[in-house]
Formats: sequence, C-alpha cells, structure tokens
Amino acid sequence: MVQHFDTLLVNIGQLLPMESKGPKRGKEMSELQLLEHAALGIRDGKVAFIGTMVEADTFTANQMIDCQGKLVTPGLVDPHTHLIFGGSREHEMALKQQGVPYLEILKNGGGILATVEATRAASEEELITKAICHLNRMLSYGVTTIEAKSGYGLDRETEWKQLRAAKAVGEQHPIDIVSTFLGAHAIPTSHRNDPDRFLDEMADMLGEIKEQNLAEFVDIFTETGVFTVEQSRTFLQKAKEKGFGLKLHADEIDPLGGAELAGELGAISADHLVGASDQGIQKMAVAGTIACLLPGTTFYLGKDTYARARDMIDQGLAVTISTDFNPGSSPTENLQLIMSIAALRLKMTPEEIWHAVTVNGAHAIGRGDTAGQLAVGRAADVVVWDAKNYYYVPYHYGVNHVHSVWKKGEVVYERRRAFEGLSISR
Ligand code: NIG
Ligand code: FE
Repeated sequence: MVQHFDTLLVNIGQLLPMESKGPKRGKEMSELQLLEHAALGIRDGKVAFIGTMVEADTFTANQMIDCQGKLVTPGLVDPHTHLIFGGSREHEMALKQQGVPYLEILKNGGGILATVEATRAASEEELITKAICHLNRMLSYGVTTIEAKSGYGLDRETEWKQLRAAKAVGEQHPIDIVSTFLGAHAIPTSHRNDPDRFLDEMADMLGEIKEQNLAEFVDIFTETGVFTVEQSRTFLQKAKEKGFGLKLHADEIDPLGGAELAGELGAISADHLVGASDQGIQKMAVAGTIACLLPGTTFYLGKDTYARARDMIDQGLAVTISTDFNPGSSPTENLQLIMSIAALRLKMTPEEIWHAVTVNGAHAIGRGDTAGQLAVGRAADVVVWDAKNYYYVPYHYGVNHVHSVWKKGEVVYERRRAFEGLSISR
C-alpha cells in the first residue's frame, strides 16, 4: 500500500527502536531490537512507520532523507542534571589535585555552597540564558529529554527562582525538561547548627510547588555531613504525602543506607549508588526503583571505585546512566562520554548502555510513555549518528558522533562542516 509521509528517513544502516512496555530490567537490558537496512516515516511530528527498506519501497514523502547506512536511535534521555546554576568552579580543580576531598571543600563553605552564592547573586534572566547555552550543548550531543534539579538556592527565594527558570527554559528550548525540587541539597551556612529547621523550611515549600506544578520530583542529598538517612526519610515522606515522586542522591561517597531508603519509600530512582550495599540493591529490586548511575562523577572526583552496575543488573535492577551535569562534581553536558565511561568502568555492554540512555532514562523521570523509544504514534525524537553501528558510539570516546537531531519531526541540530571538502565522519 502506498503511504505518504512528511519525512521519510531511508537507507538507515541500523535502527534501534527501543520499544518496551516498561523499563528494561536485569537481563532484559541485553535484548536489543535491531532493524537493518531500515526506514522511518514521520507524519505530524510523530513516528508513523518503522520497518525495512523493502516494506518502504513504494512510499512517498515531502522530504526523503538518505541516511547512507548510518545508525538511527531515539533521542537520548539524561535523567539527572543540575541544569540551573550561577557561575562555575574551575578553581576547585587545583584543590582536588592536591587531594582535598569533595566533602571537605563543602565543609569549608566551597563546593555546592560556592555555587549557592553565585546562584543567589544571578538574576532569573541570567540563569535562563546560561541554562540555554548548556541545553544547546546537550542537544548537540543527541539529548532530547532531561531532568533538571534546583538545589543551589537553599532559601525560598532562590529555590523558586531556579524552579521558575527551569520552567521557562523548558518552554523555549526543544529539549523537554522534567523538574525536580532539590531544596535539600546541602545545609546552608545560616542553618549549620540546625539542619532540621532548614529541612522544615524546605518542606514548607512543597505544597505551593505542587500547586504551581513547578516540580514533579523531590530529591535529597543523603550523605555524611549533609542529611542523615533519618532526616531524609522524614523529608521524603512529607514529599510523598504531597504527591511528589521521590529521588535520592544515595550512597554517592559514603555507604549510608540510601539505597535501602529508596527501596523502602518506593522512590522512582536512587542515584549515584557507588557505595550501595547488597541489601540496598535487593530492596531497590523489590520496589522497582531504577538505579541511576553517574560514572562521570566518579571519574571527575578522581575515585577508583565505581558503582557496581554488574551486580545491580544481575540482581534484576533497571539501570540508567546520566551526566549528573553540575559545576562541581561533573561539569560536562556530553552524555556520549558517559556512555564510554559506563562501558570502560561500569563494564556495561553496548546493548545495556543504549537501554540505559533511552527507555530506562525515560522511566527514571516518569516519561516512559513519551520519551526514549521510537514507536508508531510517539513523538519523532530521533538522532541520526555518524556511525554505522551502535557499538561505535561508546567505543570512539570523547567526541561527538551526532549527525543530526530531530525533535517532534523537525531538525533541531545538524553538524556543520568546518569547510567544504573536509570530511570528519569516522
Ligand atoms: O550529584 N552530590 C551532590 N550533588 C551533585 C554535586 C553538586 C556540586 O558539586 O555542585 C552531585 O554530584
Ligand atoms: Fe547530582
């Protein structure tokens, strides 16, 4: 039957539809659907056909794009970013080189607290302009949906400013943004001796945030010198009662029992998990909590011990990976680099990695129904890669392999050649 499309991508070498009912757990993460010599039809911004070139033989389209054997995948999902912040922290690099630990820098008023000062000082407009620069870079790396946290205000006014800025950039940028309230990111200097009062103040904001629909999730930094497991439980329970989904920065540096708490409370994801215990992993598996691993952060903090992705997958967890984009522990927008570190350091296979950055990332931020998959009827968020196969992207590390990015059926990023005749495709 002849079918007509707005756009038809033809001669796709490998197409990864990533179709799935729920997140891919455990062994399912290695079962990759792969279409070779494929075509993808787009109509009204949505995927309208996925199949082989033979099936598409008689199809017509307003524009035919010859993919010349390239890899095509869904737009990537980055499920853990600290997108909105003022300033930068390049001067901390020297301290890190001298061996000053991350939590020590924070204790001395640097780290997160330095970014809090810069974020308080920035206007909402400045935060928006800066965030758009970061989003542009993410888009260029093939990311079409992200989660963005607040948490560099640590006071009412600035946390609101960050949440409003996240909403504003989501309305004007092609990347879809899912917002998380991370008011409990650190103890501000003003409340150093009374963290419980600080958490009460942050909890007081929850009702209004919900009413104004400024965040879907609530997160907390459960860590030595920040918030204890007990404080985290009390705070997150309040958020749960108000109808928020829950996330935790869990067991990032010290193994405190954050993974156990995530499982106990039925959090949608627990993030970092470098020190997660066997019991914590089991509790997460029972609860269906997704493990969001951030190996770029471990790398950037200069640590040798990475999250136990293999044990987590063996225990049946759904694993996603993310940049953790932030100005301190992971200043990069490049999710492709994180895919390479996941391969090298987490020992994840290419099949697991592609599930992690698409379908599982989407489920970790409540977008399983709309992002991370190419299926008929879903938004056509598509990446065409300058690669012939899906192994290639994590393998050739540290550079950008994106040829073009499509959001809702329109090209939103295209790699430009430096000058005619220069070919740098492989
Ligand atoms: O996920 N650990 C807490 N939060 C961030 C780091 C934030 C910062 O250093 O500015 C993280 O690593
Ligand atoms: Fe983080």
